[in-house]
Order: sequence, then structure tokens, then C-alpha cells
Amino acid sequence: MRYVEANGARIPAIGLGTWELRGRTCARLVEQALKLGYRHIDTAQVYENEREVGEGLRASRVRRDEVFVTTKVWTTHFAPHDLERSAKESLTKLRLSEVDLLLLHWPNPHVPLSETLGALAHVKKIGMTRHIGVSNFTVALLDEAVAACPEPLVCDQVEYHPYLDQTRVREACAGHGMAVVAYSPVAKGRIKSDETLLRIGKAHGKTAAQICLRWLVQQNVSAIPRTSKIERLSENIDIFDFTLSDDEMLEIFGLGSAQGRLTDFGFAPKWD
Ligand SMILES: NC(=O)c1ccc[n+]([C@@H]2O[C@H](COP(=O)([O-])OP(=O)(O)OC[C@H]3O[C@@H](n4cnc5c(N)ncnc54)[C@H](OP(=O)(O)O)[C@@H]3O)[C@@H](O)[C@H]2O)c1
Repeated sequence: MRYVEANGARIPAIGLGTWELRGRTCARLVEQALKLGYRHIDTAQVYENEREVGEGLRASRVRRDEVFVTTKVWTTHFAPHDLERSAKESLTKLRLSEVDLLLLHWPNPHVPLSETLGALAHVKKIGMTRHIGVSNFTVALLDEAVAACPEPLVCDQVEYHPYLDQTRVREACAGHGMAVVAYSPVAKGRIKSDETLLRIGKAHGKTAAQICLRWLVQQNVSAIPRTSKIERLSENIDIFDFTLSDDEMLEIFGLGSAQGRLTDFGFAPKWD
């Protein structure tokens, strides 16, 4: 496993995304992923699967201090007391005494950012999480957050895959010593039949998904692909035995554009 270092955190470069994984399927996939060598699990309060993620963790029998667990606070809990209560609830469901990373899931313009960040820093200080960070923050918001937060932020978790150009966010994170954590890293499965990725994959004996994930980790980005299929768990982590050339990296960068976003903003909070 490779790690991304960011403001004191050591984030495993590949993690298992768990959005939409529910019940026994979720617990079984988390358990199996950890048995296969995953050391990073991404969940969120709003995914309603923290309990099952915790079950999978325990069933795997992998030592707690070897696994990097991320969860996220939903936007309706950004007022200071709500945030602490929400974090406590997540820990209860996960049956953990602390998580490794706690993120603000989306920006919420209706609660002053400095208050939410103060509360986030507080839950870190009292030991509920080892690190804190944000998700879906634009460059402008990220700069504001870094300036306002009393504790270092370690990442911005954003949509990132070959079809979406995230140069500005990557540069901003690097400038703040923060990591980019890539969600929807295999473009929700769309990369599977991409001709460029398939051709590069053929040269390395790898699938399009493996080329895509390798391209991300070679940029020092951490990626959290989700799969509901046990056999794809191995595929998505088997990316550490080859290197993409500079030309191959550039060719994949060429697939990206500012319009390549796939996130269904129906999932984002409705502000009004
Ligand atoms: N912070 C945020 O706001 C936010 C937003 C979205 C997601 N996330 C996090 O990021 C994780 C990943 O993002 P995502 O779930 O949106 O998308 P993703 O990981 O890019 O794609 C998941 C889809 O790709 C398929 N897939 C996975 N591995 C594959 C492979 N090797 N070959 C072909 N298809 C493959 C899966 O199908 P099968 O199940 O059939 O394998 C699934 O339908 C989430 O689970 C969640 O933890 C965070």
C-alpha cells in the first residue's frame, strides 16, 4: 500500500467507498476488503451504513490501528452542538472510540464556516477524530476554511477521475499541504470501456479501472472506489506493481474537461 501524507495524516492511497452499500452486503464487503489488504474505508453519516462498516471492521480481525476510517458530518448538523452530537452518534454506530478522519460533507452557506470549523476542531481536540477535513469545497471556500480553522485540515474530498479536470483543486490542496481524496474515481464505472484506458491497460496487462486508479495515485491522490462485487475489490487494489510513463499520464490528463462532473446534485442539500 502507498500512502498520501498530508498535514500529519498518512492516508492509504486506495480505500473502499461505501456509498449505497447497505446491510449485510456492506459488512461483508468491508470485511473482505480488509482481508484483501485495504486499509482505508470511507463512510458517512448520511450513507446510513456506519453500523455495518463497524461490523465489517470487527469481523475482519484487522487491528484497529492499521485501518484508516473516514466518516462525514451531514450539513444539517453544522451548528456547533449539533456537530459534536452527530460525531458522537457516528462513533456509537461504528462502535469506535475515534475515527481517523472526520469531514464536513458539503459546504453549508447557512451556518458561518468559522463556527462549524471551530466545532470540528473541538471534536478533534477531545479525541473523537485523529484528523479533520472537508469535502466538495471549491478553491475559494478551501482558502477560507484553512484561514478560519484552528486545527490543520488534511484533505478536500472531491469528485475526481480522468473525465473531470481538477487541476485548480489539486494545486490549492498542495499549497495548503492537504491531500485530494478522489470520489467517484472510476467515474461510476464509465471508465470500464474507455478506449484510451483499455489501450494503455493492454500494454501493462491491466484493466481500464486499474489504469484509471493508478493514474490517480501516481498524482499523490488517494482514491476510494466503490464496488458491490467481491472480485472487483482485488482488481481495484492491484495497482501497485506497475508505473505509468509520463506520456501515458499526459494522455489520460487529456481526457479531462471542466464539464466532466458526474455528481448528481440531487444528492446535495437543498438550501431553501
Ligand atoms: N464526499 C462526497 O460527497 C461523495 C460523493 C460521492 C461518493 N463519495 C465516496 O466515494 C465513493 C466512490 O464514489 P462512487 O461510489 O460515486 O463512484 P465510483 O467508485 O467511481 O463508481 C462505483 C461504480 O463503479 C463500478 N465499479 C467499481 N469498480 C469497478 C471496476 N473495477 N470495473 C468496472 N466498474 C467498477 C461499481 O459497480 P459494481 O458495484 O457493479 O462493481 C459502481 O457502480 C463512494 O462510495 C463514497 O464513499 C463521496
